[in-house]
Amino acid sequence: MPVKLVQHPLIQHKLGLMRVNDITTKDFRDLASEVASLLTYEATKDLPTEKRAITGWAGPLEVDCIKGKKITVVPILRAGMGMMEGVLRLIPSAKVSVVGLYRNEETLAPVKYYAKMAGGMEERVALILDPMLATGGTLVATIDMLKDAGCKMIKGIFIVAAPEGIRRLEERHPDVELFVAAIDEKLNDAGYILPGLGDAGDKIFGTK
Ligand code: URA
Repeated sequence: MPVKLVQHPLIQHKLGLMRVNDITTKDFRDLASEVASLLTYEATKDLPTEKRAITGWAGPLEVDCIKGKKITVVPILRAGMGMMEGVLRLIPSAKVSVVGLYRNEETLAPVKYYAKMAGGMEERVALILDPMLATGGTLVATIDMLKDAGCKMIKGIFIVAAPEGIRRLEERHPDVELFVAAIDEKLNDAGYILPGLGDAGDKIFGTK
C-alpha cells in the first residue's frame, strides 16, 4: 500500500479546523502550511544520514547529516504553493521544481501549462505537494514528468485524498509513496472530494 495515513493528533486537530466552512483565508493558509510541515516530518523519516566531523563548543565531535540524495519539493500550481512554506521551513536548502497543471473542468483530465525542474533530478528525492488528491490525474501526470526528468525516488504529500485518486496511483505508479492527513469518502460529480475541504486553491489564495 503506497499510502500512509498520518493520524497524529496535531494533524487531525488542524485538519478538523480546516474543514470548518467559514474559515478565514489566513487561518486556512496557516493550517495548510502547518499540516504540510507535520506530514513532511513523517515523509522524510527514512532519509539516510551520515556522520560529519565538526568542531563543537567543547571540541571535535561527529554529528549526523542527511546523506547523498538532495531534496526537491514539487508544488503543483496553484494550490501546492500553499504547502511550500511549511515544507521549506523544515528543509530550507531544498530546490523547488514547479509544475503547472489544471483540470479540464469537463473531462477532469490534467492539462500541463508549466514545468521548471531543478537540476540533477536523477540524484534527488522529489516531494510532490498538493493539498487535494482527487481523481489522481494531476498526480499521475506530475509523476510521469518527474520520471521523464530522471527522478527515481518520488513521494507525495497531500492533506486530503479520495479513494479514487489512491486507486489510480496504485495502478499507474505503485512505487510512489503518499503521506496524507485523511482519506475521505468519495468524489462528487464535479470531481470534488467529500467531505473534503472545498476548493483548496481558492481557500489558500482567497479567491472566488
Ligand atoms: N481540488 C480541490 O481543491 N478540492 C477538491 O475537493 C478536489 C480537487
